Amino acid sequence: MITAPSILSADFRHLGADVSAVAAAGADWIHCDVMDGVFVPNISFGFPIIEAVRRVCDLPLDVHLMIVEPDKYIGRVRDCGAFMMNVHYEACTHLHRTVQAIHAAGMKAAVTLNPATPVELLVDIAADLDMVLLMSVNPGFGGQSFIANTVNKIQRLRALLDRTGSKALIEIDGGINAETGALCAAAGADVLVAGSYIFGSPDPSAALRSLAAL
Ligand code: DX5
Ligand code: ZN
Repeated sequence: MITAPSILSADFRHLGADVSAVAAAGADWIHCDVMDGVFVPNISFGFPIIEAVRRVCDLPLDVHLMIVEPDKYIGRVRDCGAFMMNVHYEACTHLHRTVQAIHAAGMKAAVTLNPATPVELLVDIAADLDMVLLMSVNPGFGGQSFIANTVNKIQRLRALLDRTGSKALIEIDGGINAETGALCAAAGADVLVAGSYIFGSPDPSAALRSLAAL
């Protein structure tokens, strides 16, 4: 399993140490949650924090933009050192254009779906995507409970990707721990994001390894 610890739940007094610890424990990517207070009812952090993470580790940065008008920031996200730019389906009027622009900027493109957005809406864009991120909580906050219907969405998305010849990875974000992560793995997930399960644990390295082993 590819693991992507979310720094939303890290301790920002020592963000560098927290990132270095999960990197040393074998994290594959670092997941960065940007919230604008408009698309979601919370504000998290922006580009200076992502740049700081870039300076403390060389893991691929998976940037999840929970913002309106993400097209405006494609160059800025690239300049922060992101390898993957995640935009929400619900925030993009011209999604195909947005995906093309992310690729033209030299990044991999991921489309994120809220819990109520059906995976079938991706049928005409799936082949152009590097990853689909299924939200397993309503975006905006760490520490929420996994929505069980996500397992069914993973199965349907896996079938859709196979049918359309898409090589996109399936990433799951929200309420992931060893138990919910195992359900996602069995359903066909490739990447697990986890915030509070890792950074809220007394032993973040062990929590990370429990997901990597799935
Ligand atoms: C939620 C964010 C998640 C969040 C997950 O809106 O997109 O990445 O950090 O946190 P946990 O793992 O605590 O649910
Ligand atoms: Zn996220």
